[in-house]
Amino acid sequence: MDLELTDEQRMIQDVARDFAEKELRPIAGIIDREARFPRETVRRMGELGLMGICVPEAWGGSGGDAVGYTVAVEEVSRGCASHGVIMSVNNSLYCAPVWERGTDEQKRRFLAPFASGAKLGCFSLTEPEAGSDATNQHTRAEREGEIYVLNGRKIFVTNGREAHAALVFAQTDPDGAHHGISAFLVEKGTPGFTVVKTEEKLGIRASDTAEFLFENCRVPVADRLGDEGEGFKIALGSLDGGRIGIAAQAVGIAVAAYDASLAYARERKSFGVPIGEHQMVQWMLADMATAIEAARLLTRRAAFLEDRGLPFGPEASMAKLFASEMAMRVTTDAIQVHGGYGFITEYPVERHFRDAKITQLYEGTSQIQKLVIARHLLGGQAQAA
Ligand code: CAA
Repeated sequence: MDLELTDEQRMIQDVARDFAEKELRPIAGIIDREARFPRETVRRMGELGLMGICVPEAWGGSGGDAVGYTVAVEEVSRGCASHGVIMSVNNSLYCAPVWERGTDEQKRRFLAPFASGAKLGCFSLTEPEAGSDATNQHTRAEREGEIYVLNGRKIFVTNGREAHAALVFAQTDPDGAHHGISAFLVEKGTPGFTVVKTEEKLGIRASDTAEFLFENCRVPVADRLGDEGEGFKIALGSLDGGRIGIAAQAVGIAVAAYDASLAYARERKSFGVPIGEHQMVQWMLADMATAIEAARLLTRRAAFLEDRGLPFGPEASMAKLFASEMAMRVTTDAIQVHGGYGFITEYPVERHFRDAKITQLYEGTSQIQKLVIARHLLGGQAQAA
């Protein structure tokens, strides 16, 4: 694995860093407090080519690679974690499967405007009784000639309220268990498809997390993604890529908390000297910097494998597991470095701490990542460490 970024990856890093520093960092605290979806800066992410990084230019994307994508998600999340997930879901969980599995007609309608950022996509798998146990889908899609009729409830859909279309998973053959799950591209405005709720959240408060209700929602057969029964594989394959994005988001959140801690350690004095001169603070900063580097390397390694067309699912789970646990630890220590000031909203580290928590939960909890990794190891296919 080449540890140097290519010219193209460095360019995307510069673009994302500059955007995050100038346009995201100044508003991150405000939109968090107001729990306001940042339409204007999400539109800007599209203009900067950040919404379909790995999609070819011919289909509205930037024609980049997965390593470049992790670099961009990290920088954006360093500026604002909510933008990080909005971007990651559109890239990994919506555009990637449509690019990989869509027909040309589906790509024309459901990919090009989304990869360019003109429209926003979302991924709708989770249900009240299908979280970690994602196979337990209750949403039904019954075929009637050239249409499917969808009925069911979906929850925790990132971008759900704002999205123009959703990739929805539903059971076409309830007796077939996970082999009976199929994937559908459903446009907003389709009769019978309603957003019934938007969640109030602990962190990533400027992102939108919605609940969907499908009531006799008629979807053309032509809008099914992949074959009947292939939905679960499409979902898990998309989540492999998505987990790399969330790992990068966790790294970005941790870097933001570390940046703030370093600056604070230089300026805040106690016992007559800057607190950075106290060894106990130095140790916390050293641990933070080391853990961030390790998580970044794991994340880029998973992306590197993906770019080479090699299996990368377990490595994506390792990256997400390590990076999200690391982000929780680093943001906790960042509050400790700030002392009481870390606990009040005037300083950003309490937001980083709240934002970090979700990275241990969505796109598979830390426990699910361990399950994926352990199954891989016990299956005897583990690569040498
Ligand atoms: N890619 C493609 N297919 C895969 C796969 C992968 N990475 N991993 C497994 N599969 C296939 C298996 O081969 C199997 O198919 P066959 O029977 O044809 O061989 C099928 O999927 C089922 O696999 P398992 O028997 O391993 O299924 P399981 O139920 O025992 O466990 C799981 C699967 C790992 C627990 C899985 O359900 C999982 O990852 N759960 C977590 C779900 C998740 O991450 N949800 C997040 C939703 S999105 C979100 O967070 C909101 C958002 O908007 C950000």
